[in-house]
Formats: sequence, C-alpha cells, structure tokens
Amino acid sequence: MPTAEPNTTADNAPNRGAGNLTIREPDDWHLHLRDDAMLAHIVDFTARQFARAIVMPNLVPPVTTIAAAEAYRDRILGALSPGRRFTPLMTAYLTDEIDAGEIGSGYERGVFTACKLYPAGATTNSAAGVTDVAKIGSVLERIQKIGMPLLVHGEVVSPDIDIFDREARFLETVLAPLLRDFPALKVVLEHITTAESVDFVQAAGPTVAATITPHHLRIDRNALFEGGMRPHAYCLPVAKRRHHRTALRQAAISGNPKFFLGTDSAPHLKQDKESACSCAGIFCAPAALESYALTFDEEGALDRLEGFASEFGPRFYGLPLNEGTVTLRREAFTVPETFTRDDISVVPFHAGETLAWRCADR
Ligand code: DOR
Ligand code: ZN
Repeated sequence: MPTAEPNTTADNAPNRGAGNLTIREPDDWHLHLRDDAMLAHIVDFTARQFARAIVMPNLVPPVTTIAAAEAYRDRILGALSPGRRFTPLMTAYLTDEIDAGEIGSGYERGVFTACKLYPAGATTNSAAGVTDVAKIGSVLERIQKIGMPLLVHGEVVSPDIDIFDREARFLETVLAPLLRDFPALKVVLEHITTAESVDFVQAAGPTVAATITPHHLRIDRNALFEGGMRPHAYCLPVAKRRHHRTALRQAAISGNPKFFLGTDSAPHLKQDKESACSCAGIFCAPAALESYALTFDEEGALDRLEGFASEFGPRFYGLPLNEGTVTLRREAFTVPETFTRDDISVVPFHAGETLAWRCADR
C-alpha cells in the first residue's frame, strides 16, 4: 500500500494522473461531533471515510468524567446509520479542578484515549478550560507516568496579544516550559497553523507530534476577507499568512511521522456562522479526505498520503493500524452548498466547489 492504478490521463508528472488511489483506512485524530440533533446529522460524514476518530470533549457541560465519556460514546454509536463501523475515541476535558484519579483510571479502563487542554477562553466552549497549567500539575504528573497523550489547543488567550501571534506565543510561554517540566509527556499540538509550530514539533523529542487540518493546508488569512467577510473560513487558530501555509504543506507531505491527520471538523449552525459574531469552526468532514488528496496531489505527494492519514497517528497513539482500505477515485465531485436536515443547516468547507477526487464510502 498505497496502490495506484495506471495513469488514465495525459498528465504524467510524478503521482499525477493516477486513476484510483487505495490506501489503508484512515483515522481522524481531531474531531468535533457535537451532540443531539447535530450529532445525528453529521456523524456519518466522518464514519463514511474514517475508521476511528479522537472526539473532542468541548460539549456544554464539558466531558470531564468517565461516566460522561461513556454516555457520550453511546450517543455517538447510537447516532450512526445502521451498518456503519466506526470507533469514537473519547477524550477528557481538563479544568483547573479536574481529578487526576478520574483521568488516570479513565485511561487505564480504556474509556479515555487522551485528555484535552483548552486554555480557558481560547475557543468555542473553552470557558471551563485551564486558567494556568500550574494548576493541573498533578494531572500532568499522572498522565506522563501512564503514557496518556495530552492534546493541546496551542494559543495564549491574552487580549493584548495579536490573534495572529497567539500560537507562536503559546509555544514560548506555555508549551516549552511545560515540556521542560514534563519531558516524557506525550503531547499532540493540535491543528497547527504556523511555521513556528512546524519547527517546534520537528525539533522536539519523539513524544511530541502535531495534527494538521485540511483547511489550514488550503487557505491563508486572505480567505477570511475575499470580496467581503467570509465566516465559513473562520476557525481557531485562525489561518495565518501564506508562508505558514507553505510550511504546513511541507510538513504534511514530508513523511515525518510527527505530523498526521486531524480534521478539526467543527460544525456550527449556518445562522450561527453567518451572524454578527460568527462562531469559530470549519465543517470539513463531508470532503475531508478529498481535500487532503487534492493538496497532496498538488504537491506531487500522493504516495505520502497514506502515512499521514492512516499510519503515523495510530503509531503515535500506540494503537493498531486499521486493516481495511478506502479508495479515492479521480473524478469530479461537487461539494453541496449546505447540508440540511429538519431545522439544521450546516455549510461545509469547499461548499459549491468541484473537487478532483471522490472517496468511495468505506
Ligand atoms: O475553530 C474551532 N472550532 N476551533 C476550536 O478550537 C474549537 C472548534 C469548535 O468547537 O467549534
Ligand atoms: Zn478542535
């Protein structure tokens, strides 16, 4: 693997023009599935492409206990269409008051796969997050000892710091000291958006990795203002200048196992996105693998997609690789403008665009 069929087009550049691409079944290492009617509306978009996903715990109230994670996992499984095979991997939301014993035993019992650090106020539903990492020292001690991954939203929240600098500042002021104090901690820096993060992760030891979203590989900050304000391009961390996008692309296609797939698909109601105070989040699940394939294809690196999508993530987490395969076909696929069910409408990433790849359902 991967297997590519012979060229079917005139384009003979390396990796270009191949007909179908079959890769090991991928996983999504960063995903928002929400709850209730929204969950029921969107979960199949992910399950159609991905065998497993790391499910973010930023519900209201957040998922902070074993019981809450088990109940949420059951709701996710119950929302899948009949016959869909999909494994949600649950995470614990860290708060200043979180109980280290609950987190540790949740991991040892196989309920939690990781825990998530949201700096309080950094993003959607992060009000209950951590105000100072010094307050969660006993949890960090415990998870370092048992090898439980810490997933990090890497932005400082101070209003004095320019929003485009918040990720880089986090590396210097929070993550580097944290790794000095807990050198064996397994850390995933989530949804990286900057060249500084790429450099940081590359330079760090083997216990530090990063996820990269499909949208940060395709948009830069101009996308937010193209002909007017574009709320559907707004997410956190916000897209940065073009040279950062270039660095992310180089990292994703590099074959370095520290960089792997995490969509950060984060649906919000259409009316909440298209409002005077738009919610942060890009709903990229409906064409996630297609979007990554487009980028890897543009970079002449389709042969590296399988490592990024299907191998590096499970190896970092110490989980088995999936056994099945998915096939991407080189065929025109127009992404719908909206997905609507009852009173729920969501606008996907790539809405209305015709992509050159289509992933067959698993
Ligand atoms: O854009 C984002 N949306 N970034 C996050 O960190 C959270 C997410 C959400 O939950 O909507
Ligand atoms: Zn997220």
